[in-house]
Amino acid sequence: MSFKIIDQAQPRLNRSELAVPGSNPALFEKAANSKVDVIFLDLEDAVAPDEKEQARKNIIEALNDLDWKGKTLSVRINGLDTHFMYRDVVDLIEKAPGKLDLIMIPKVGTISDVYAVDMLCTQVEDAMGLEKKIGFELIIETALGMQNVNEIASYNRRLESLHFGVADYAASTKAKTTVIGGPNPNYHVLTDIDEDKPRNKHWGDMWHHAVSKMVIAARANGLRPIDGPFGDFNDPDGYKAQANRSATLGCEGKWAIHPSQIELANEVMSPSEKEVNQAKRILEAMETAKKEGKGAVSLDGRLIDIASIRQAEVLVQKAKLIESS
Ligand code: GLV
Ligand code: MG
Repeated sequence: MSFKIIDQAQPRLNRSELAVPGSNPALFEKAANSKVDVIFLDLEDAVAPDEKEQARKNIIEALNDLDWKGKTLSVRINGLDTHFMYRDVVDLIEKAPGKLDLIMIPKVGTISDVYAVDMLCTQVEDAMGLEKKIGFELIIETALGMQNVNEIASYNRRLESLHFGVADYAASTKAKTTVIGGPNPNYHVLTDIDEDKPRNKHWGDMWHHAVSKMVIAARANGLRPIDGPFGDFNDPDGYKAQANRSATLGCEGKWAIHPSQIELANEVMSPSEKEVNQAKRILEAMETAKKEGKGAVSLDGRLIDIASIRQAEVLVQKAKLIESS
C-alpha cells in the first residue's frame, strides 16, 4: 500500500440518480416517493433559457416545502459560462438554507471551475452562518474536462463524485454518433476474411476508455464514479447492459432520466445476496487463516488472499448501507 492515504468522500448510497427538470414541479413529489437514492433537480440543459428563473423558484419552493422522504438532494446549476450560474448558487443557499446536500456542476473543464463555485458557496454559507457545507458532484462531459480529470478530481474540498455526461461528451469530442449512452453499431471489429464463412461484426463499447479514465481519477481521490444518462428509456435491457459495463469498471451508480430506470440502476448497482454471502464467507475464511498465521488460503478450490479481504469488505459495507437506507 502506498504511504499516501486517500481520504474518502462522505459515504452515501448513490446507486441511482434521478434527473428531474426544475421547470416541471409536477414531477417533484413522484421523485420524492420513488426508490431513487439521489435526486438532482435540473436548472441546466433540461430547462429552456426563458424558463430558468421560474425553474429556480420552483426548486427553492420545493426544497423548503416538500417532504423529500430522506432522499439525498442535489441541484444541477447552470454552466460557469452563463449569467444564470451565480444567481443559482446564491438563491439556492440563501432562500433554502441547509436544504441541499449537493450541487452538481456541469461541464467542469478545469480545476479553477471548481474553485470558483467553492469560493461562491463558501461566501454565501459563511454570510448565512451555515454549518452544513454543500458537497459537489462534477460532470465530466467535455474533451477539456476529460483531459484535466485527474487534476479536477484532486480538488479535495467538497468533492463527492464524478459523473460521465455521455451526451455532451459525444458532442464535445465530435463523436460520430447521436445516441445517448450505449453502444454504436459503427464501433465494431470485423472478423478476418475466411472464404468459407461470413464475416462477423463484434460490437465494442465506445465509452470504455472515457468511463475507465474517469473511474481511475475518482477512485484515486476517494470519490464516487457515476455513469450518466442512457437515452432510450424503452430499452431496459440496453440500460442494464450499459449499467453492468460501468459497474464492472468500478462505477457505483447510474443516472435515471426516467423513473423506470431507477429500479434497474438499484438492481445492477447493489450486490446480490449471493455475492454478499460469498464475501462474508471470504472474510470468515481469512479470519481463520489469520489465526493460523497464513496470508492466503483456498476457498471452494480458489485462492483467496489479503486483497480478497478488501474486495469482500467493499461488498459487505455496501450491503450494510443499503440495509440502513
Ligand atoms: C449529461 O449532462 C450529458 O450531457 O450526458
Ligand atoms: Mg450534459
